[in-house]
Amino acid sequence: MDKYKYTFVSRFEYIKGNESMVATQARIFVLEDGYICKRINSVRFQPNEYLLPNKINKRIDKKSTDPDDKNRIIRFVDYFERKSTFFKEKYIYLVSKYNDEKDLHSYIEHLKIKEELLIEIILEMARCIRLCHEAKVIHMDIKTENFVVIQEKPLRLKLIDFGFSRYGETKKLKNVCGTKLFIAPEIIRKECYFKSDVFSLGSVAMFLQLDNFNDIPKENLSIEVQGLRRCRPALKEIIRNMVEFEVDRRYDIHTVIKKLLHL
Ligand SMILES: Nc1ncnc2c1ncn2[C@@H]1O[C@H](COP(=O)(O)OP(=O)(O)O)[C@@H](O)[C@H]1O
Ligand SMILES: [Mg+2]
Repeated sequence: MDKYKYTFVSRFEYIKGNESMVATQARIFVLEDGYICKRINSVRFQPNEYLLPNKINKRIDKKSTDPDDKNRIIRFVDYFERKSTFFKEKYIYLVSKYNDEKDLHSYIEHLKIKEELLIEIILEMARCIRLCHEAKVIHMDIKTENFVVIQEKPLRLKLIDFGFSRYGETKKLKNVCGTKLFIAPEIIRKECYFKSDVFSLGSVAMFLQLDNFNDIPKENLSIEVQGLRRCRPALKEIIRNMVEFEVDRRYDIHTVIKKLLHL
């Protein structure tokens, strides 16, 4: 692979997001010709990260009947390795397409999120997650920072950042990973299921309800049930079933989509 075919234009301005449980030490760079590049220290590198989105995309290309699906998961175009001149560390660079897209976190920062928009956001996030689950991939870090807005009306999102993702469920997770505020309770017990992504999505839904983002409680949102008070009972019921602690009783992603479409 030709190491020098990309020219680094600038360091991507880092957004102020929620702290990840395990820092990936990733850096984002913008490249010429509409590409974005993520740099990961190879010691912490999970080869999964570029393989899993490709796997999901292959499945979409083969099976999906919805033309929007092909834009719902990030596509990696290339990767290459480079040694740091100062620290002799090896870095992996993952290259993907960048179309000046804003991430969902920055997009909604100054928006007042009314119920209709909340439903549209959660539904579109759920469609992206469904594509992962159909390909047996658990994303493991569902939050607004990890979606980019590719179209505003109707809202179309793309799921990015497969840094913590894994193939299939397990009861023996090596590391607790994800983002504190949204993490499912079973992850703390080192178990992870497809429904762990649903819990995070439910937590995001509750987070989107808060008027002031600075009011976010430090602990897990699911205990803050009063945060749900501003939505209609049927929506409240869906969200409550997403942040259900008991995995068996929690909705799966297909049920979430079905229920949201019936609101
Ligand atoms: N393809 C992309 N298009 C637009 N913005 C992106 C893209 N990839 C990453 N970003 C921006 O960079 C941020 C960090 O990227 P991400 O892959 O989530 O890395 P990290 O592991 O640091 O969370 C994202 O929240 C988003 O704002
Ligand atoms: Mg991220």
